[in-house]
Amino acid sequence: MKDIRPIKDDSRPKVYIETYGCQMNVNDSEVILSILQDAGYALTENIGEASLILANTCSIRDNAEQRVWGRIDQFRLQKQRRPDVLVGIVGCMAERLKDKLLDSHVVDIVAGPDSYRSLPELVRNVAPDSPQMNVLLSHEETYADITPVRMDRNGVSAYISIMRGCNNVCSYCIVPYTRGVERSRDPRTIVREARELLEAGYREVNLLGQNVDSYLWKDVDGQTVGFSRLLEMVAEISPELRVRFSTSHPKDISDEVIYTMARYENICRHIHLPVQSGSNAMLEKMRRKYTREWYLERVGKIREVMPDCGLTTDIIAGFCGETQQDHLDTLSLMEEAAFDAAFMFQYSERPGTLAARKYPDDVPADVKTARLNEIIALQNRLSRESNERDLGKTFKVLVEGVSKRSPDELFGRTGSNKVCVFPSAGHRPGDYVRVEAVSCTSATLISRIV
Ligand code: 5AD
Ligand code: SF4
Repeated sequence: MKDIRPIKDDSRPKVYIETYGCQMNVNDSEVILSILQDAGYALTENIGEASLILANTCSIRDNAEQRVWGRIDQFRLQKQRRPDVLVGIVGCMAERLKDKLLDSHVVDIVAGPDSYRSLPELVRNVAPDSPQMNVLLSHEETYADITPVRMDRNGVSAYISIMRGCNNVCSYCIVPYTRGVERSRDPRTIVREARELLEAGYREVNLLGQNVDSYLWKDVDGQTVGFSRLLEMVAEISPELRVRFSTSHPKDISDEVIYTMARYENICRHIHLPVQSGSNAMLEKMRRKYTREWYLERVGKIREVMPDCGLTTDIIAGFCGETQQDHLDTLSLMEEAAFDAAFMFQYSERPGTLAARKYPDDVPADVKTARLNEIIALQNRLSRESNERDLGKTFKVLVEGVSKRSPDELFGRTGSNKVCVFPSAGHRPGDYVRVEAVSCTSATLISRIV
């Protein structure tokens, strides 16, 4: 079995890795570290001793990119102090901006999401005035044979990428352009990775894809494995290993997946189901391929089969042409769906997307901000109400670490993905404990061990 933790070796040259964006990027950084460890590097958390500095970047909204431009300016200072340092920009921003990143004269390496295997070669070939770039997208690359080197702190919960890319064409979204077409990973490599994580002490795996419901593996002999079968295969490894997944697409989440979740105690009852908007006019323009009514039907089905299932979402405020009525439709859908939590954003136009080409970004900035604030305020209330409904209930919680509130308290998550804080009582990260929720905020269930 390969090392799944960073190698400690003072004699090796050091790589420093910063990660922006989604869970998939966090896992990609672990793939990158694996490739670079094989090439002789060791990880450092101290940028000052790194000979290679990497930023694994995100393009989803303009502010995500602006943060990285700010970091590139800081990397310039490192290079002024130590001229031999190499700087690499990898991930979605590398794919989107390509050689524009080289204009900064700070960046030596540009590598897109499908070219991480070539990183050692890119590093070797860098020369003064000869930066290196690989932004080829692939139809096959899933890094299936690479064992990610885990950079999490607690050794309890790990990401496993089950697919890459995205074949949807949501009109606002840059991801299909930066991550390419959808491809699924061989399920045997997924199960093997999950089993190795269990053996290394992990107790939770989070299966990642842009749209997990369209996971589909076709074997050479014509056999196929879909997402619900994959879920079963991973759930059957051990009742001690919890299974989570994200992200589901409302147009694709099937009854089969919902029933499979209900059948296995160790598949966590939580679905992240991004709705984006409650207005049919907006959903149509966003090319989401479902309606408000369809979305609420899916929520009804989930609640019917699993009344205790956690439901979270993503919402975009101020998409092109959004009227006050469209906005009110989003608020009313939030109430009807009674989300437990949400990620909420202002629309940010991404160059090259369908929306950028077809629709003016015409909701004024102050209106976007006001609508987002209303959405956030409503979600705070919904989250608090959801937590209040859980008071007095008991939950099986997987301990993840020591609470930020107090060194004598631990935190962990319920299957429905709520964070619980409770007295340590000798428990440790990786233990399962039963707790009762006794009080709450909008973000946390304050609990006692039962
Ligand atoms: N502007 C704002 N939010 C966006 N998202 C995706 N693209 C954009 C954009 N252009 C949000 C969606 C998605 C989440 C990952 O990011 O809500 O579900
Ligand atoms: Fe992840 Fe999307 Fe950001 Fe790429 S653009 S890092 S896929 S969130």
